[in-house]
Amino acid sequence: ARRHSNTILLFGATGDLSRRMLLPSLYALSLDRLISPDLRIFCTARSSLDDEGFRAMAYAALEEFLPEGRKNEVGMKAFVERLHYQPLDATKIEDFGLLAARIGSISDGLSIFLSTAPSLFEATLRGLKEAGLTGQDVRIGLEKPLGTDLASSRQINEAVAQAFTEAQTFRIDHYLGKETVQNLLALRFANMLFEPLWSAQTIEHIQITISETVGLEGRADFYDGAGALRDMVQNHMLQLLALTAMEPPAEFNASAIRDEKVKVLRSLRPVGEQEWVIGQYGAGAVDGQPVKGYIEELEKPSRTETFVAIKAHVDNWRWHGVPFYLRTGKRLGERRSEIVIQFKPVPHNIFAARGGQVVANRLIIRLQPEEYVRLLVMAKEPGIDEAGIVLREVPLDLSLTHAFSGTVRRIAYERLLLDLIANDQTLFVHRDEVEAQWQWVDAIRAQWDKAQATPKGYGAGSWGPTGAIALTERDGVSWHD
Ligand code: BG6
Repeated sequence: ARRHSNTILLFGATGDLSRRMLLPSLYALSLDRLISPDLRIFCTARSSLDDEGFRAMAYAALEEFLPEGRKNEVGMKAFVERLHYQPLDATKIEDFGLLAARIGSISDGLSIFLSTAPSLFEATLRGLKEAGLTGQDVRIGLEKPLGTDLASSRQINEAVAQAFTEAQTFRIDHYLGKETVQNLLALRFANMLFEPLWSAQTIEHIQITISETVGLEGRADFYDGAGALRDMVQNHMLQLLALTAMEPPAEFNASAIRDEKVKVLRSLRPVGEQEWVIGQYGAGAVDGQPVKGYIEELEKPSRTETFVAIKAHVDNWRWHGVPFYLRTGKRLGERRSEIVIQFKPVPHNIFAARGGQVVANRLIIRLQPEEYVRLLVMAKEPGIDEAGIVLREVPLDLSLTHAFSGTVRRIAYERLLLDLIANDQTLFVHRDEVEAQWQWVDAIRAQWDKAQATPKGYGAGSWGPTGAIALTERDGVSWHD
C-alpha cells in the first residue's frame, strides 16, 4: 500500500552522509512541504549527545552543506527543532529498547534509514527486531556498501530478510535519485524517436564514464578496502548500464523496472582477459592545483585500483556485438558522468565524391556536472563551395538546466528519502540485482587475482593509464573526451 509513514529514523545520523546529504535533504523537503509538518524525525548514532547537542551539529551541517540559495535561518532553526536524538550502541541490545520507548507508537508507519558501517548491520537488524521496531508498519532503507562480494552481500541480505520482506527493503543507489538518470527513462520511453534505433542494428558501441577529480576525501580506510570496481562499477555504473540496455518495461513501477534491469544484469558476459585495465593515481595536478599520489595520501603501500576501465558485453539479441565501454576513476582531469551512444555510420555516403565526410551520429547523455542530452548530427555547412560539399557535425542540444530553469535542483537523496517515506520502490535496487551485480564483479576480481594484476600508474589530472586508451583503440574506438 502507498502510505506515508509518519516517523523516520536515521541511523548513523552524525556521520558524513547524514551531514552532507540526509539532513540537508530532509530540510529541503520540509521547507518545500513535501514532507508533512507532522513527520517525526528521530536520529541515532553512537555519540552521547542530547537533543540540544545534536541540533547544534545538524544546524552546522546545514550551514556547511546547503547551497546558498536554500539557506534560511528561520527555516533551518525551525527544522532542527524537529529533530530528536537518541544515542545508541548497536552492540547493546538494551539501547534499542530505549530507542523504541522514545519513539513510541509506530502504527502510523516507520521508515528507517541505515547509513552505518556494514559491520553493524546485523547487530542493528537484530536489535530492531528485539525492540519491536520491525513488522508490517516498518520499512528500511539501506545505504551501500552492501557487502564486498557476493557471499558477504548475501549474508547481509539474509540478515535483512530475517526482519523485513523484500517489499519493505529499500536498497539505495543514489545514482537512481539523480534527475538525469530518471530522464534517461523519459528519453527512451516517452519519445518515438530513439527506441526503434536502440539496438545492435544501429548502435556501434556505448560508453559510460564517471570521472571524478576528488581523491580519498577522508575515507582512506573504506576506499582502500574497496577500490574503484567495488565502489563505483558494482553499483552506479551497472545501474546506468542496466537502465540504458533494458527492454521497455510495461509500466513505470518498481517491479516492472526491476525485472527488466535484472535481465540485463544477468546477461552480462563474464569479462575476458584483455577486457579490463586498472590504474592508481600518482602525483599530478587537478584544476591547476598540485595533488599527492594515492600512496602518499594513504601513507602506506597499496595495490588498490583508483581507476578501472572495462569492455563489457550484454549477451542478448538486442545488444549482440555492441561493446559497453565503462570507465571510472578518482583524481581524473574533470568531474563528469555521462553515457555516450555511438551510432553506426551511414551505410553509403552519397557525398563522398564531392568531398563530404560523414561522421556517425552520437547521443550524449550528460548527468553531471551539467545536465543535458546532446545529439550530434551531420549538417551541410552553409555557403557555395565550388570544390565540393562541406559537412559538419552539429549538436542538437537539449539543456535540461535551461529547459527547466526556475525549477529547484534537488539532490538525489531528497527524491530517495521521500520515496522511502512514501513507500515507492521504483528507484531502489532489488536483491536480485545486487546479487547479479556482485556475481559479475567477483568474476572480474578473480581474474585480477589470477593475473596478479597491479594497477598501472597515471598522473593525477589525466584521463587514466594509457592502457585504458589502448582498450578502445584496439577496436578503432576513442573515448569521448
Ligand atoms: C559514492 C562513492 O557511492 O559515489 C564515492 O562511494 C563517489 O567514492 C560517489 O565519490 C560519487 O557520487 P556523485 O553523486 O558525486 O557522482
